[in-house]
Amino acid sequence: MSVYEGFAFFYSIGTYTQYSHRMAELLPQILEKYQAKPKTILDLACGEGTFAILMSQKGHQVTGVDNSESMLRIASERAEREQTQVEFLNADMRSLTFDRQFDLITCWFDSLNYLLELPDLEQTFQGVSKSLKNDGLFIFDINTIYGLAVNWQRHPAYVEQDTPDIFVVHQPSYDYERNLATMRITGFMRDQEGWFRIDEVHTERGYPLEDIQTALKKANLVEIACLGSVAELGPPTPDSSRVWFVAQKKA
Ligand SMILES: C[S@@+](CC[C@H](N)C(=O)[O-])C[C@H]1O[C@@H](n2cnc3c(N)ncnc32)[C@H](O)[C@@H]1O
Repeated sequence: MSVYEGFAFFYSIGTYTQYSHRMAELLPQILEKYQAKPKTILDLACGEGTFAILMSQKGHQVTGVDNSESMLRIASERAEREQTQVEFLNADMRSLTFDRQFDLITCWFDSLNYLLELPDLEQTFQGVSKSLKNDGLFIFDINTIYGLAVNWQRHPAYVEQDTPDIFVVHQPSYDYERNLATMRITGFMRDQEGWFRIDEVHTERGYPLEDIQTALKKANLVEIACLGSVAELGPPTPDSSRVWFVAQKKA
């Protein structure tokens, strides 16, 4: 089974979506700093849609792309419940084929780390470049190698959610030979019939910042910032767990 199937529902009601709320809150200051006033937004790997829906509610025209049917189903149901218009599409971000271009493209919360080979990242950036208007911004985060190999590995197992009806345990590990981080996720949920269990193994890769920068350049995306803190808009440090890039498409 692929990832974000059984886990999708746990994700949608867990602490995970706090990140989307935070990014929706912080994005205006980033856009102001880089003098962008996007009307159309493409949110890559939009997951269960929280960020896309929040941006739509702020008045943007939003399209969300993801390759998990379960995440997209939750996203559409959420948008309908909130009476918000968002276009959700099932597609692989490595092969974007839009016949239109967006003012802003975003990709949040480890999503690019799910691309396990550099050519996958390069292909994604090429698709982003084609789908972005000239001068449009591409803003994304990515876990660093330090974040995955050190910070993720601080505890061999921890409880991510613990409520009367939900219990989720994360067990991280790191393969130094292949440079891959793995998160084994086990979730329990209670319904009328009792408890049921899901298991998923999520694998992520961190990339040297230089590889990301070269891949951006190859895709004609000009890096205008690499940040270690998106709240303070400060530079990365050697122990940054996550970095945010702001890149711009040049004609
Ligand atoms: C950690 S979740 C982040 C979701 C959302 N961006 C957020 O901030 O909550 C990672 C998402 O990436 C999606 N994903 C992973 N690989 C993908 C790919 N190749 N194409 C499209 N989506 C992908 C997964 O289905 C999942 O929804």
